[in-house]
Amino acid sequence: MAFALRPVFASLAALLAATLASAELYTDASQLPDTVYDFVVVGAGTAGNVMAARLSENPKFTVLVIEAGISNEGVRTVEVPFLATQNIPATATTWNYTTVPQVGLGNRSVAYPRGRVLGGSSSINFLAYTRGADAEFDRWANLTGDAGWAWSNLAPYYLKNARLVPPADHHNTSGQVVPADHGYGPLEMSLPGFATSSDQKVLATTQVNGSLFPYNIDLNSGNSVGIGLTQSTLGGGERSSSATAYLEPALNRPNLHLLIENTVTKLVSSKGAKGVPTFTGVEFASSASAPRHTVTARKEVILSAGAIGSPQILLLSGVGNSTDLKGLGIAPVANLPDVGQNLKDHPILSNYWQVTLNDTFDDIYRDTSVFNAKLAQWNSSRTGLFADSPTNALGFLRIPDNAAIWSQFKDPAAGRQAGHFELLFLDGYAPAPAPGPGNYFTINTAVVTPESVGTVKLNSSSPFAFPLIDPGFFTAPFDVQAMVYAIKSARAFMQSAPWAGVALSRVGPVGDAESDADIIAAARAAARTIYHPTSTARMAPDNAAWGVVDTQLRVKGVSGLRVVDASVFPSIPAAHPQAAVYILAERAADLVKQAWSH
Ligand SMILES: Cc1cc2nc3c(=O)[nH]c(=O)nc-3n(C[C@H](O)[C@H](O)[C@H](O)COP(=O)(O)OP(=O)(O)OC[C@H]3O[C@@H](n4cnc5c(N)ncnc54)[C@H](O)[C@@H]3O)c2cc1C
Ligand SMILES: *[C@@H]1O[C@H](CO)[C@@H](O)[C@H](O)[C@H]1NC(C)=O
Ligand SMILES: *[C@@H]1O[C@H](CO)[C@@H](O)[C@H](O)[C@H]1NC(C)=O
Ligand SMILES: *[C@@H]1O[C@H](CO)[C@@H](O)[C@H](O)[C@H]1NC(C)=O
Ligand SMILES: *[C@@H]1O[C@H](CO)[C@@H](O)[C@H](O)[C@H]1NC(C)=O
Ligand SMILES: *[C@@H]1O[C@H](CO)[C@@H](O)[C@H](O)[C@H]1NC(C)=O
Ligand SMILES: *[C@@H]1O[C@H](CO)[C@@H](O)[C@H](O)[C@H]1NC(C)=O
Ligand SMILES: *[C@@H]1O[C@H](CO)[C@@H](O)[C@H](O)[C@H]1NC(C)=O
Ligand SMILES: *[C@@H]1O[C@H](CO)[C@@H](O)[C@H](O)[C@H]1NC(C)=O
Ligand SMILES: *[C@@H]1O[C@H](CO)[C@@H](O)[C@H](O)[C@H]1NC(C)=O
Repeated sequence: MAFALRPVFASLAALLAATLASAELYTDASQLPDTVYDFVVVGAGTAGNVMAARLSENPKFTVLVIEAGISNEGVRTVEVPFLATQNIPATATTWNYTTVPQVGLGNRSVAYPRGRVLGGSSSINFLAYTRGADAEFDRWANLTGDAGWAWSNLAPYYLKNARLVPPADHHNTSGQVVPADHGYGPLEMSLPGFATSSDQKVLATTQVNGSLFPYNIDLNSGNSVGIGLTQSTLGGGERSSSATAYLEPALNRPNLHLLIENTVTKLVSSKGAKGVPTFTGVEFASSASAPRHTVTARKEVILSAGAIGSPQILLLSGVGNSTDLKGLGIAPVANLPDVGQNLKDHPILSNYWQVTLNDTFDDIYRDTSVFNAKLAQWNSSRTGLFADSPTNALGFLRIPDNAAIWSQFKDPAAGRQAGHFELLFLDGYAPAPAPGPGNYFTINTAVVTPESVGTVKLNSSSPFAFPLIDPGFFTAPFDVQAMVYAIKSARAFMQSAPWAGVALSRVGPVGDAESDADIIAAARAAARTIYHPTSTARMAPDNAAWGVVDTQLRVKGVSGLRVVDASVFPSIPAAHPQAAVYILAERAADLVKQAWSH
């Protein structure tokens, strides 16, 4: 409880809640009051905190959460929405991974950060909340044979995840969102509070050029095609994360304990009835050289370490391709060759224009006094540019039916309400700093129906060594062609009337490319990740020989172990995935509660 309070109250909190707080948040394993819990949740990330909060609603369940990262409290780059980008690529709040050399990107390795802080990636992400099209979830139901994952059946879960709160400036949001599509959950979500002049031009473009760039009043309605204002996970000008919305309010419960700054090194199993491996505990340590500790999970271990961490921990625990594991000197426990396979992610790159607008955010990164003034405004009133996310508008668009690309490729989209590519609009040169004086505008283009497939593998049997991450960017020809289409679409956007005399020249590494061949070369040289890895411990039908977890998210062929995070996605949604992670975790919590209801 004290843990959630602002520093100004710290001494009061220490007095009032010394016993409570110290009974709940631990950094030293030897201080943990128990060694046996009903559930041990690995990772206090986006999904892990939903599990911890929902399971501990039942006072009969005892829950321990173990998180490698630090507390989120008082971390400015976590709290201030606009400063989200300052957490990456390598800070105290991240796993500073890089990929292996990417053949499709001219053998470049690209930064691949994940959140390493309470809230996990929900504490460092760029706050965009997009459920994705209804068809994304209907595809999950189809791929798994479980109608419970269909959009209509998940409605209770998206409604109990998030709720709309007023934008930081309390403006009238009529025409910008459909409140009826939204729910009542603890996660706060709001529209931009401080519209920039480029936001107005983006919206004007949808008005005058709606056939190419339709306006979508609410991208979270189940139809995700079109351009709209970003709904961001923030409220009152502050980031809302799984730590602030789920974990902190639950921490005063006596049946929930939290251990941070401790890395899970493996899951402990033994042979159970009929020789089925049974997971009964979790091993962890505060550093590579520190002693290992073990806690017991009486009912289940819930693995929520994310799309990189979860396959890594499964492999370290003997769950994976037995041949590969033996090669690393790890004793196989369950032969599940799909662990670490099927990595999907969205490739992204930035398109830049020099513009005549005079109020872009470029000056913030060029002039410390401007930065400090915006920060002071945020600090004193939670208003101004820093109270908004870095992206006030975005949209998902489809490559039209008559495009040449379809003579070569089958449509990979989940349905007609899902896009193939995304345009993200940024009111300045991003990532900063700008290459020169003046003002800039950025359109990030991302391929959101990627066909490329990658892997996460162990490089070493040491749990403190980083895994080998290979998203396989641009290894599938469709993704390259779709990116070319997206870049041309961004250029067409800027040819629209509202930008006449405003957009000057194209600049930046992709700006000069004209022919398709040049655009492809520039894309391979410039693309990076939008940080959306999924599907590395994929869910599959209960009786399927493939996949890692069944439709109840139980690891196949073993007992006592579930995976709940982005790694189990059967397919990657054409959307920013945090909403799908929350929705999945909300249902998972119900599945676990039902399984242990008697
Ligand atoms: C920079 C960035 C920007 C993004 N922007 C957006 C966005 O705008 N919108 C959006 O929808 N999505 C965005 N995403 C993606 C989104 O945040 C993730 O898909 C989602 O949060 C993943 O949730 P998760 O529960 O699967 O994993 P995480 O939230 O990453 O949680 C995993 C947790 O497990 C912990 N962990 C891992 N290994 C261990 C271990 N061995 N021991 C103990 N703990 C461990 C981690 O420290 C972490 O806290 C972004 C991601 C990043 C990194
Ligand atoms: C990445 O993190 C490791 C520790 O986890 C550290 O040793 C290394 O210096 C970091 N790399 C960068 C580029 O910050
Ligand atoms: C990338 O690496 C592969 C394998 O090492 C090599 O065959 C290829 O020529 C390299 N490509 C470039 C563009 O350097
Ligand atoms: C999935 O969709 C395909 C194609 O529409 C259909 O043939 C199949 O029966 C569906 N499977 C399930 C389990 O719904
Ligand atoms: C917001 O604007 C709409 C449309 O102009 C109007 O109908 C509505 O009354 C306004 N709401 C408030 C609270 O002012
Ligand atoms: C397991 O790994 C081995 C060695 O890398 C590989 O040859 C084999 O195809 C893998 N098995 C499956 C089923 O993927
Ligand atoms: C910024 O541009 C607007 C619109 O063109 C103009 O009215 C305003 O005076 C300009 N402000 C500055 C500081 O140049
Ligand atoms: C933020 O506000 C606090 C007091 O409310 C003050 O102590 C601190 O200096 C301020 N920080 C900045 C960066 O303005
Ligand atoms: C993998 O291990 C090798 C040998 O220890 C090391 O040189 C390399 O840097 C490691 N790769 C990564 C991505 O950590
Ligand atoms: C719409 O975009 C197309 C493609 O760039 C452009 O040719 C057209 O002029 C635009 N229409 C308007 C009204 O801006």
